[in-house]
Amino acid sequence: MTEAPDILTLTTVDTGYGKKQVLFGVDLAAKAGKITAIIGPNGAGKSTVLKVAHGLLPLWRGSITFAGADLNGASPAQRVRRGITFCPQGNRVFGELNVRENLELGGTHLPKKEVADRVAAVLELFPQLPPRLKQTAGTLSGGEQQMVAIARALVSKPKLLMLDEPSLGLSPNVLKDVFDKIFEVNRTQGVTILIVEQKVRKVLTIADHVYSLKLGKVAFSCPAAALADNKAKLKELFL
Ligand SMILES: Nc1ncnc2c1ncn2[C@@H]1O[C@H](COP(=O)(O)OP(=O)(O)OP(=O)(O)O)[C@@H](O)[C@H]1O
Ligand SMILES: [Mg+2]
Repeated sequence: MTEAPDILTLTTVDTGYGKKQVLFGVDLAAKAGKITAIIGPNGAGKSTVLKVAHGLLPLWRGSITFAGADLNGASPAQRVRRGITFCPQGNRVFGELNVRENLELGGTHLPKKEVADRVAAVLELFPQLPPRLKQTAGTLSGGEQQMVAIARALVSKPKLLMLDEPSLGLSPNVLKDVFDKIFEVNRTQGVTILIVEQKVRKVLTIADHVYSLKLGKVAFSCPAAALADNKAKLKELFL
């Protein structure tokens, strides 16, 4: 079996906010068709990696490529058109809009006719959503809102879906449903996933590869299964 190629690569990336440097020489890659997880303590720079990959922060040093092309200078909207979609931490849905309107917003860069087709196709993956299309999204449960956020992202037809802490605030049962759905989206739709998670043991059950960030640097990276089996390392990292 040949190894999957890298679809997203960050090479010696520095960035930060204002004058404050947050990432220091980050090298990271997401393999096409795989699930790559980024773990690490609060403030390590996990969200910052996704933000700079989506063009929401300037690149101070290094390079970022997607499907072989340099992303330098590409706006977030241009990155969406190239196939990169980002679900930020915490803000899941447009609470005032109904579920259908939320989903349609995932396709603002697509022709109108195609948006309706994409929404219909995505709804087949989320059987709990069709009965709720007219419901105001802010009145959905946390788990339902997370499903809408993932569904909306899929309407944009991503090749790479970047998810920032999709488990935030979800109960264990609901969290399992969300992780199962992310795994299903990856394995059945072939969407590459780059996921930031603090629920380390849980994310290791779906990830292929994992990066651990500490103080804005990659502390280590390895196959997810290798870390899942290394009880001593897990304990050292998170207890
Ligand atoms: N908008 C901002 N302005 C200034 N500093 C910021 C901003 N956002 C994040 N930071 C700082 O950058 C560092 C990394 O933040 P980041 O959000 O990437 O961490 P994280 O690993 O995602 O943490 P968490 O697990 O808490 O979400 C932190 O020190 C944080 O205070
Ligand atoms: Mg974060």
